[in-house]
Amino acid sequence: MTDQSLNDPAALLRWYVDAGADECIGEVAVDRLKPVPPPAPAMALAPAPPISTQPAAVPAVSYGAHPADAATSVAELRAMVESFDGCGLKQFASKTVFADGNPSARVMFVGEAPGADEDRQGLPFVGVSGKLLDRMIESIGLTRAESAYITNVVFWRPPGNRAPTDEEIAICMPFVRRHIELVNPAVLVLVGGLSAKTLLSTPVGITRLRGRWHEFQSPGLAAPVPALPLFHPAYLLRSPQQKRLAWRDLLSIRERLDQSKA
Ligand code: URA
Repeated sequence: MTDQSLNDPAALLRWYVDAGADECIGEVAVDRLKPVPPPAPAMALAPAPPISTQPAAVPAVSYGAHPADAATSVAELRAMVESFDGCGLKQFASKTVFADGNPSARVMFVGEAPGADEDRQGLPFVGVSGKLLDRMIESIGLTRAESAYITNVVFWRPPGNRAPTDEEIAICMPFVRRHIELVNPAVLVLVGGLSAKTLLSTPVGITRLRGRWHEFQSPGLAAPVPALPLFHPAYLLRSPQQKRLAWRDLLSIRERLDQSKA
């Protein structure tokens, strides 16, 4: 570099670029020749407590206790769920979808998760698959309003209708379990694979679970509730050839209800 180019800013810049300094990363030039300040004095540490020779106290952990267990009515449980902020799904949902139908009904349907229509109305199974579920319920002489009770394993719509995660299901489960205990139906219908797997605590898929009666047990129930997995109506809309099997399951529900009335 010549003395002349030092007075020519464009020539100076070209010289920098040629030397590899092609990027400006700060407003102020770094003075690398400045003396380094002495290191700060070390922080004074509090003296460590003496190591005890006594065994450490183990905090009491209460397994299974959950605020939902304190609900003594479906209305109380609904209020609890509506004011619960512990499930991340709630922040994306517009409404809590708790249940629909008659909580004194002898048959309780538990589906998977609310979709867009359910999220808008705050009611389970009101969209296209809900319309089919209504017809399935009516086909065995029941009605949604009087003789059926409907809920889901999660109370808020997962964004974009994705499946709820294991964690989201686990967070809702104590409420769902208490819900079933409080309704104590004669028959529990597990609508779809997710509901069946969750409430029967099994990894087995719906195709193998359906067609057989299982038992749902929970500490607040005097006796296990007979539970029948049923193909989800959304699946039946995609695979209408499976309606034949669903019809068999519906007849089995009717039969069980008739027997338990006697
Ligand atoms: N599918 C479900 O499983 N539940 C609903 O509430 C709606 C669609």
